[in-house]
Amino acid sequence: MNILLLGSGGRESALAWKISRSPRTDKLYIAPGNAGTAGVGANVAISATDFPAIRDFVLSHAIDMVVVGPEDPLVKGIYDYFKNDSELSKIPVIGPSAEGARLEGSKDFAKAFMMRHHIPTARYASFTSDTVQEAYAFLETLKPPYVLKADGLAAGKGVLILPTLDEAKDELKEMLSGKFGDAGNTVVIEEFLSGIECSVFVLTDGKSYKILPVAKDYKRVGEGDTGLNTGGMGAVSPVPFADAVFMKKVEERIVIPTVEGLKAENIDYKGFIFLGLINVAGEPMVIEYNARMGDPETEVVMLRIKSDLVELLEGVAQGNLSERLLETDSRSAVTVMLVSGGYPGSYEKGKVVTGLDQVTDSILFHAGTKLQDGTVVTSGGRVIAVSSYGANKADALARSYANVEKIDFDKKYFRRDIGSDL
Ligand code: AMP
Ligand code: GLY
Repeated sequence: MNILLLGSGGRESALAWKISRSPRTDKLYIAPGNAGTAGVGANVAISATDFPAIRDFVLSHAIDMVVVGPEDPLVKGIYDYFKNDSELSKIPVIGPSAEGARLEGSKDFAKAFMMRHHIPTARYASFTSDTVQEAYAFLETLKPPYVLKADGLAAGKGVLILPTLDEAKDELKEMLSGKFGDAGNTVVIEEFLSGIECSVFVLTDGKSYKILPVAKDYKRVGEGDTGLNTGGMGAVSPVPFADAVFMKKVEERIVIPTVEGLKAENIDYKGFIFLGLINVAGEPMVIEYNARMGDPETEVVMLRIKSDLVELLEGVAQGNLSERLLETDSRSAVTVMLVSGGYPGSYEKGKVVTGLDQVTDSILFHAGTKLQDGTVVTSGGRVIAVSSYGANKADALARSYANVEKIDFDKKYFRRDIGSDL
């Protein structure tokens, strides 16, 4: 079949790699893609949120399935756009409806959903500019640090953790007066949870589900988890603490109630559910939902799916996922992200990337690259994910770090401690 994948980051490079390896894939197009996706499919110069242009392309290129990488098109309703168009309605979109994507697009909606379905998460309340005094009173019932979340999408910057009550109150006022634009019109305040995080990915056809390999990402720019948050500096899979006992709790307390809850509320959801979890003394709790795969987790999760991903996605589209087999690879997988010096602050683009052809025993997933006159140059903060298999985590890390040394561009930076906390 012919598949159109939407997006342009490391996550999409990994999805494209996996999709391209399926015997069921005839043509793979990526819109807009990057220099890496061009190696496994054909890039198409269309933005992932330009629905009319996507429509024209899908119809003119006999596309049989659309796979959505990032959250933006989902929150903007690409699933519903296809469903409500008589010429597109038969073409499956892997990803939830706009209503389902609210699990990611609205923190308030996600928290209320978890309350309705008794899914373990931090205690919370939501406030607007009309209820500032109530918000202060709620903050006073909590212990520090204080967690404030802009309700809407804020490019991953909408969560603030404040050490003191005064700072929390000041920050709350700023959020409610437009610091994050409309995304902050409602603010969720929640109890701080202490523990180690992991990412669990669920693929659902709305009726049944498969739990994909668990991963842990490294969000901070500095070693030892210090410095600013980034789009992700590396990831590992499996995650030792996510053992059978922990995962049984995740499945019973979180995955099943989530899938059943969506069904009970008639929310159309055929795609990936990303559970951002925290292990609080052995008990899994939900920090956040996302309506898509994670980045850079996908750059390890795809390595650990042995089965044909396209066959699983067909199961999602046809509503018979329960009849499909998910086989995982028992090896470890890690990824180390090479980023532009200065990121996540300001950084330069257009640096020539060398040494890519020297890499052996790792898989490169481009994140922020483009082709300029046949040369790969940097075009973003996160440049290339260096993913490897290994008999164990240390073995996989040794491969990735050996290859990291072979790739170069001006002001290249990476973390040397990926996976070392586990
Ligand atoms: P989010 O954007 O919801 O993923 O939040 C960003 C990060 O903030 C998470 O990955 C956690 O590290 C942290 N965080 C969010 N909510 C909480 C909480 N209730 N307790 C502790 N840390 C949290
Ligand atoms: N790695 C976290 C995310 O994709 O949101």
